[in-house]
Amino acid sequence: MTYKETIADALKRGVAIGHFNISNIEGFWAVVNASRKLDLPVIIGVSEGERDWIGVKEAKALVDIVKSEGAKVFLNADHTYSFERVKEVVDAGYDSVIIDCAKLPFDENVAITKQCVEYARSVNPEILVEAEFGFIGSSSKILDAIPEGAAQDEVQLTSPEQAIEFVQKTGIDLFAPAVGNVHGMMRTGKNPHLHIERIKAISEAIKIPLVLHGGSGTPDEDFVKAAENGMAIIHISTELRFAFASALKEEFVKNPDEVAPYKIMKAPRDAMQVQAEARLKLFNKLQ
Ligand code: G3H
Ligand code: ZN
Repeated sequence: MTYKETIADALKRGVAIGHFNISNIEGFWAVVNASRKLDLPVIIGVSEGERDWIGVKEAKALVDIVKSEGAKVFLNADHTYSFERVKEVVDAGYDSVIIDCAKLPFDENVAITKQCVEYARSVNPEILVEAEFGFIGSSSKILDAIPEGAAQDEVQLTSPEQAIEFVQKTGIDLFAPAVGNVHGMMRTGKNPHLHIERIKAISEAIKIPLVLHGGSGTPDEDFVKAAENGMAIIHISTELRFAFASALKEEFVKNPDEVAPYKIMKAPRDAMQVQAEARLKLFNKLQ
């Protein structure tokens, strides 16, 4: 199935495709191996910082190699903050890109997003362009408090009316609303509940697939309900970062004299794969 067909299929079945951010080769294999083991499609996400670390074209080349071997993997240029950086990944042949101007005033957000959509379409009619509306914080890290300004109550959440206007004016393919989700994971591991009714209302209003950002720490049952109500893609980053860092710290304590990077990195890679598999099973109602 193509990317568009994979998303349409997920929507139809009320499940969601897992999107996992990576920033090193261990993350890459963790996600690809999880997808292969469960025979489920995945999206690999690289935000500006992550793809600068891996290499913009190198990330694309890695995904192309496993795609040519039959892996069901798509590559998304996650959180991209300018037209120039969107152009770079469109030209590099990514499967999708997110223009994130959620912090800008409505008109500016619309203008930049529209420019990105028009450019992307002119180069590659198959590429999907996603945009965000509503602020949900900006860092995939461990949180001691909800990020300042992040939409949490009914009035701050993205409204169906705002969503309709934004989608009509920009022509985007995928929409990421603020529905109680936040980037990052609370130190307790428990993030606030999502507003499922709002997800449903937005989905019915705009009729394009929704994307849930800030998935880490979200209650399990909310993921399932979100997928049943139009969230076709769910983003997870902090949970994999946490799994990686915890396993790495443990490895140094357990084997302080080990110096071979590929041996040191085995446990961190496996820990990320375990977490990715657990999320994929849940998003696809396999557990
Ligand atoms: O784009 C990345 C995500 O939205 C990940 O958010 O770190 O809260 O899982 P998260
Ligand atoms: Zn995000």
